[in-house]
Amino acid sequence: MPRKIIIDTDPGVDDTMAIFFALCSPELDVIGLTTIFGNVDTELATMNALRLLEIAGRPDIPVAPGALNPLTKDFEGPVPFVHGADGQGDIDLPEPAGAPLDISAAQFIVEQVSANPGEITLAPVGPLTNIALALRLEPRIADWVDEVVLMGGNALVPGNASPAAEANIRNDPEAADLVFGADWQVTMVGLDVTLRVRMSPDDIADYATHGNPMSEHISRVLPHYRNYFESNYDVEGIFVHDSSAIAYLIAPELFQTRRWPIRVGTQGLGRGKTWPATGGHILPAWENRPLVNVCVGVDGERLVALEAERLREA
Ligand code: BDR
Ligand code: CA
Repeated sequence: MPRKIIIDTDPGVDDTMAIFFALCSPELDVIGLTTIFGNVDTELATMNALRLLEIAGRPDIPVAPGALNPLTKDFEGPVPFVHGADGQGDIDLPEPAGAPLDISAAQFIVEQVSANPGEITLAPVGPLTNIALALRLEPRIADWVDEVVLMGGNALVPGNASPAAEANIRNDPEAADLVFGADWQVTMVGLDVTLRVRMSPDDIADYATHGNPMSEHISRVLPHYRNYFESNYDVEGIFVHDSSAIAYLIAPELFQTRRWPIRVGTQGLGRGKTWPATGGHILPAWENRPLVNVCVGVDGERLVALEAERLREA
């Protein structure tokens, strides 16, 4: 039986790859996309989610629009220098034919999880606002969700949105602290591993040879994103963020994990930093917090090969 997942996403170039990777993987049954601000604003994220499902030939999968702003502040704005003003590498896509659901992302999550207790895994690859709102709406989803496997955070390495914090968590640290503090199994696929998964220029070029609409779209959206990485990091190609969370769902044996409680900094320069209590004396702020499965090691080459293989066979 494939594992039912809801991908909560801010597409986003790497979100695009992650969504396609999941759709091409027989181990997973994507039962919905929920959208969130981050790489773009929520309205554009919703339009892009619809566009991507149409490119993939899966317009039957519902899209539920998410929150417009983080729990306690206004959204600080998109990152066109990373993902393009359209979130898709500035390639001028047509409007989607379909429309989103008229219920919110949080309502959709609660409805689906309540109707399928124990069966649904949440895969957030953007800021965690919708997940926190779903928990607020129905706290019992913590018992009914199979697992939360998220891309975000940085346990033992610096951030990417600030020296302290990873972008998804920094966009809504209050929501993240609620998600890491709820009594459910969370796996954090953060920068500790995603900065060790690199798609090389040759790997990228290979997508152009697959001959299917998803790989073709990936080839079109990647140049802008790749340019951001090559101009800002000492890397050839790109780091693989969101697809790493999907890879964990398919092939967890590619990862090494540690189990630590996590708190999220909400103040000052440390806003958005995920702080694991890695040992020794546990301070009160970390007491009685659930243990998070934190990914600390990864076989990046096998991960990149797995994703390429899935897209090639699409
Ligand atoms: C995360 O931030 C976004 O830019 C990416 O889509 C990914 O989810 C990486 O820090
Ligand atoms: Ca993302």
